[in-house]
Amino acid sequence: MCALLFAEVLLEAVFLSVDPYMRLFSKISMNEGDVMIGSQVAKVIQSKNPAFPVGSHVVSNSGWRTHTLSDGTGLTPILPEWPKDMSLSLALGAIGMPGVTAVYGIEDVLGLQKGETLLVNAAAGAVGSVVGQIAKIKGCKVVGSAGSDAKVAYLKELGFDEVFNYKTVGSLEEALRKASPEGYDCFFENVGGPSSFIVLQQMKNFGRIAVCGSISTYNDSEPQTGPYPYSIMIIKELKMEGFLITRWQHKHPETLTRLLAWVKEGKLQCREHVTKGFENMPAAFMGMMRGENIGKAVVAV
Ligand SMILES: NC(=O)c1ccc[n+]([C@@H]2O[C@H](COP(=O)([O-])OP(=O)(O)OC[C@H]3O[C@@H](n4cnc5c(N)ncnc54)[C@H](OP(=O)(O)O)[C@@H]3O)[C@@H](O)[C@H]2O)c1
Ligand SMILES: *[C@@H]1O[C@H](CO)[C@@H](O)[C@H](O)[C@H]1NC(C)=O
Repeated sequence: MCALLFAEVLLEAVFLSVDPYMRLFSKISMNEGDVMIGSQVAKVIQSKNPAFPVGSHVVSNSGWRTHTLSDGTGLTPILPEWPKDMSLSLALGAIGMPGVTAVYGIEDVLGLQKGETLLVNAAAGAVGSVVGQIAKIKGCKVVGSAGSDAKVAYLKELGFDEVFNYKTVGSLEEALRKASPEGYDCFFENVGGPSSFIVLQQMKNFGRIAVCGSISTYNDSEPQTGPYPYSIMIIKELKMEGFLITRWQHKHPETLTRLLAWVKEGKLQCREHVTKGFENMPAAFMGMMRGENIGKAVVAV
């Protein structure tokens, strides 16, 4: 027990998130000994803040900690309409940061239209699996790539039109052409690196590319050079835009509500890869970077 000041709450982590950006962030702006950044679903175990009563749950950017003293700033309560029988861990996945990433990438960056063909890579991951399902809801043809046959099978279950395992497919170019001989209107990019260049050749003229992530390069100690995309972007008149979800912070509550509604209606399925034990955070994180997860990787305390 600790003596809280007015408005303070004591949080206890229930589920913690492991995300690719942690690798990028640790490389760019962290020193040895710093607490790793990250979000978690936490239970309020002591409170002097009427907005966060004891026993309620919040999403908090507490980093990799089991217990956090907070003055209430930046805490997001779990949506009041959250069903009793639905795991709160989804607030770190499909009804959380990765979910809103999928929505903004599709709607605000790509402006994906009914009938268009969309390609998404890291398709069986937290963001990718939501991207493909939303594109199906919008009446699009969806092609996904992922790194194992189990992931390919899962994506077919989710209703993806064409799926391939990029590790065993041999020629990425041929796989892309076979999956959509007429090319791609939109590309939701999660992976980056040389494979992106191959995808650009398969875009339709005036194709749009949302650069959401570049996970294949986050662990590099030297920046990769070439092949460069400029010639093909000119010839095909492509439009490429990077984004960070913080741009649409003001829309998060409304977007989370829409995602929750899709889940309740059974239109959005969300698988999770749950690792047990706070002490296994590093292993869970490295496993996610290596592709061990299907769906969102989380740690249950
Ligand atoms: N812009 C934003 O605001 C924003 C917000 C959230 C996430 N993101 C980005 O979105 C991407 C997906 O994040 P997530 O949280 O949904 O992670 P995730 O997809 O659940 O997990 C990462 C996946 O990346 C794949 N991967 C790892 N190394 C790869 C490589 N060299 N080539 C191809 N695939 C590789 C692995 O799947 P395989 O088995 O398929 O290889 C792994 O499962 C990341 O790039 C992340 O940085 C961006
Ligand atoms: C990241 O790079 C380090 C060496 O720099 C290596 O030990 C580690 O296995 C790499 N991680 C992944 C997920 O590739």
